[in-house]
Amino acid sequence: MPGRTGEKPARTLPYSEGTLSTVSVSAPAQPRKKVTTLAFRQKKGRGEPITMLTAYDYPTALSMDAAGVDSILVGDSLGMVVLGYANTIPVTMEEMLHHCRAVARGAQAALLIGDMPFMSYQAEVGEAVRNAGRFLKEGGMDAVKLEGGRERVEAVRAIVGAGIPVMGHLGLTPQSVHQLGGFRAQGKTAAAAKRLVEDALILEAAGCFSIVLESVPARLAEMISKRISIPTIGIGAGAGCDGQVLVTHDLLGLFDRFTPKFVKKYADFHSEMQRAFANYIEDVETKRFPAPEHTVEMDEKEWEELLKEIGQV
Ligand code: KIV
Repeated sequence: MPGRTGEKPARTLPYSEGTLSTVSVSAPAQPRKKVTTLAFRQKKGRGEPITMLTAYDYPTALSMDAAGVDSILVGDSLGMVVLGYANTIPVTMEEMLHHCRAVARGAQAALLIGDMPFMSYQAEVGEAVRNAGRFLKEGGMDAVKLEGGRERVEAVRAIVGAGIPVMGHLGLTPQSVHQLGGFRAQGKTAAAAKRLVEDALILEAAGCFSIVLESVPARLAEMISKRISIPTIGIGAGAGCDGQVLVTHDLLGLFDRFTPKFVKKYADFHSEMQRAFANYIEDVETKRFPAPEHTVEMDEKEWEELLKEIGQV
């Protein structure tokens, strides 16, 4: 299994506001224990918030795993924030697996969850099980996530039956953006909220180990979290969930197209990257880079020898 062996060295994580500064993050003295789906449940039992973030590449996974995140979701949001699609619908299994493998090479302890892309699990249950299996066998993931409630119950049961942990996803389910009429909050009427409570109970009964609740009223998310025994992970669903997830590119300020209202930005990497690139371009154009310290030297004797060899002495 990729990313599961060997200790990682202490890392220095570069970040900055304006100028380049660093925060040292030391590798823990003891390697962190692997987070499991059981640990998710135990954290809920103890009332300890579960932390989850998305990652799509090796260095990001390495950094957030070292920071101590409980779980990493390789979300199909990568279609928008990494691949530049308008929404998550075009994302393929091959694209997901490519990014899962990179994340699995970077993370040692976090529970790794692969997001099943649109049409990898909706059409046929057998295909859903085979594709879920690929996330574990080829992607190095520990579990999968899929969107939807009662309409997905057969697929959830079959995947769980194959021994693969499944995380559900209710509320704003981005793969249904066209059906929902846009990226809009869900469960705002009594009828819609009742349906969401029922769906959460159905997914729990079908064997999901956890459920993401996206863009639903905070008090509804809290009610669902209290009614089911499995942990809820909220995104735009308030503080009453058992854990929280954010899309990392939103948290880092790396995705410039829009920032959902529920995001807290912890950095402005988009501007910071642009500043660094502009400085590099200026340095090259004004010949400030490369400087002598970035240059490989050649021994004087070898140089003389070369000049003799090619007859320029
Ligand atoms: O794809 C994704 O990143 C997600 C999270 C927003 C939960 O589904």
